[in-house]
Order: sequence, then structure tokens, then C-alpha cells
Amino acid sequence: MYSLNNFDIDIFLNQYWQKKPLVIKQGFDNFVDPLDEHELAGLSQEPSIDSRIISQSNSNWQVSHGPFEDINAHCKGAWSLLVQAVDHVIPEADGLMRAFDFIPHWRMDDLMVSFSNKDAGVGPHLDQYDVFIIQGKGSRRWQVGLPGEFESIHPHKDLSQIVNFEPVIDQVLLPGDIIYIPAHHPHNGVALQECLNYSVGFRAPSSQEMLSSFADFALDNNLFNQRYTDQNIATREFSGEIKQQETARFKQMLARVLESEAFSDWTAQFLSQNGPKQDIDEQYENRFDEKEIKQRLETGVPFVRCPGIKPTFLEHSSINSHEFVFYIQGEKFSVPLSLKNLLLDFLNSPVFYFKNRSLDKSSVFFIRFVATMVNTGYWYPDD
Ligand code: SIN
Ligand code: CO
Repeated sequence: MYSLNNFDIDIFLNQYWQKKPLVIKQGFDNFVDPLDEHELAGLSQEPSIDSRIISQSNSNWQVSHGPFEDINAHCKGAWSLLVQAVDHVIPEADGLMRAFDFIPHWRMDDLMVSFSNKDAGVGPHLDQYDVFIIQGKGSRRWQVGLPGEFESIHPHKDLSQIVNFEPVIDQVLLPGDIIYIPAHHPHNGVALQECLNYSVGFRAPSSQEMLSSFADFALDNNLFNQRYTDQNIATREFSGEIKQQETARFKQMLARVLESEAFSDWTAQFLSQNGPKQDIDEQYENRFDEKEIKQRLETGVPFVRCPGIKPTFLEHSSINSHEFVFYIQGEKFSVPLSLKNLLLDFLNSPVFYFKNRSLDKSSVFFIRFVATMVNTGYWYPDD
């Protein structure tokens, strides 16, 4: 298990999150890499995994996209292999991300892992998202500046870099050190020797993404069913004129939908869909009936939540006060309110143990839910 040292969550959230870059020396002590470069190279051969190699020699930048049959063919000069969503396939990598659960998981992206040889990096650049970068084996020099106007260059069509930024941080990171880089802060990491880096990235939906998703939700749920009315229509000189109060009325019609309880419901549904839809693990599909799940829960078999599954629920929901409502991968689930604490424990535990609990009448809903999750490939019993 990975847990953070030398780190105060409240101070970080108040003073640094989305505000200032920070180096956390020995954020993880005695850091053990969750994988090595050979495993990373193996992942980059998988067609289902997104990977890139960025290389430079004599100021000539190249970008190649995986899957790679012969990785060596692309590793010219100073090069980095970058692999996305490693947490989905390596449970120890998911464990590393869980150390950052003080930020809601619906804000979190996947874990990107990079391996670089000496002098390699992706060049000075800006990112739209916040990131924690953990130094694994080896060492890397990080320079981070403050937001501003920067000239951008594209030394390759797939690379966006900037020129000349003034660093406010210039430090060499060693295994277990962490650097936090807020969005839009220029940065550049150059490997001083062969090294592994783990990027815990964050995502933030744009209002365009929200509007598109909410429009689908609203249409599916027939939320925009009001029609324009104007009992007190004003007189006007020009027939084409739209009065201020008429524009206001249109706004009001849309605002009513945004202020409805259904909008909060959509928020939870939308945020549970963060990231790629999980592939259903056919190994488990329809494999367990409720009796078999019950027996496993009672005998203490651990239930493992598949990496990338990010259940969400609303702090306050008044839609239905008799049920606890939550969302997984965009799908709505509910159980009787009496099961809320048990469900919160189940949903929030990367590995869930049923130990020291007894099953009563309402537990049938819990067992049914666990069976559905297992047979959908979102959780699995580790026996
Ligand atoms: C890397 O890990 O090689 C690049 C991370 C970054 O600068 O965003
Ligand atoms: Co970056």
C-alpha cells in the first residue's frame, strides 16, 4: 500500500491545489516501483493500450504511436516511452493512485507511466490539467514556471512545446519524490539517467462536454417539456424586435431545468462515466448466482473493485428518501436506505471484506447488487 508522507492534505488543498506548484521530497519513503520498464514495454505491445514513444536526436523530434512490435526500432537518441491507463491493468499501479484519493476520484484521470533514458523528456510544455508526477527509479530534473503568455512551437505535428519560461522550481527528483504541477504552468522534465515516472493526472469537464451530456439526459428524461407562453405580450414598433423581458423569459425556461433536482442527478451520472467504459470481463460474466455470492461474502472472500470503476453519489439527494441512489459507469443503482453504510463501504473499498457482519432480510438487495457487479465484470471475488 502506498501512503503519503511529509504531506498535509489541508495545507495542500488550501495553498497549492490549482494555485502553486510544489515539490514533496520523499512523499513516498522507500518507494517501490509498481512495475518495471520491461513490463511497461510489454504493455506498449498491446493493441488495447494507448502508448507513444517520443524521441529526439540532434534536435530532430519523432513521435511514434503504439502498439509496438519492435520497440527498439523507435528508441533513437534520447527517448521516452509513455503508456496511458496503466492503473487499469496493473493493480499495484492502481494502489499508487489511491494515495491521492483525497481528491475525488471523479476528478482523476488514468495513471500515465513513462520510462526515459538519459537526457530524454517531452520538451517544455503546458498541460490543461493538474498532475502529480511521482519519481520512480532514477532521477529527473524538473523545472516549473508560472502561467503566462508563451510562444508555442511544434517540432513534430504531434508535439506542442513552448519556448523560454522562467522556472520558479528547479530541482532534481529522486525515487519517492513527488512534484505537483497545476494546470497551465509551464514545465520541463529531463531524465538525468534511466528513469520511471508516474503521472496522476486530473480531468475537468468543459462546459461543452457537460452541455452535450446534459442535453442527452434531458431528452431521455423529457426534462425540457415546457412551452413558451406570453400572456402579457408587449406592444412594439417593429415586428422583428425581441424585448429584453422576452429574452429573460427564454433564459428562465432553461434555468428552471438547470435548477431542478434532476440536474443534480445528471451530475452524479455524468461524473461516474469518467474515463473509458470498462470492458466486461467475460471470465466472470453470469458466472455466479446469488447463492454463490452469499456464500463467498459469508466465508470472508475479498471482493476486488476493478481499477477504473468510479462509483458516484450525491451528498444530498431528495429524489427518493427511502433509497440510497448511486451511479456506476453511467448506470443508476439503488438499495434500501438501511443498506447505505454497507454500500458506502463496498463502493469505497478497493478490496472489500464482508467480515463481522450478519446478513438480515434487507441483505438480499446487497447480495443481488454484488452479484450484478461481479457478473458485469466491475468487481471480482478473489478466491
Ligand atoms: C513524462 O512523464 O515523461 C512527461 C510528463 C509531463 O511532463 O507531463
Ligand atoms: Co506535462
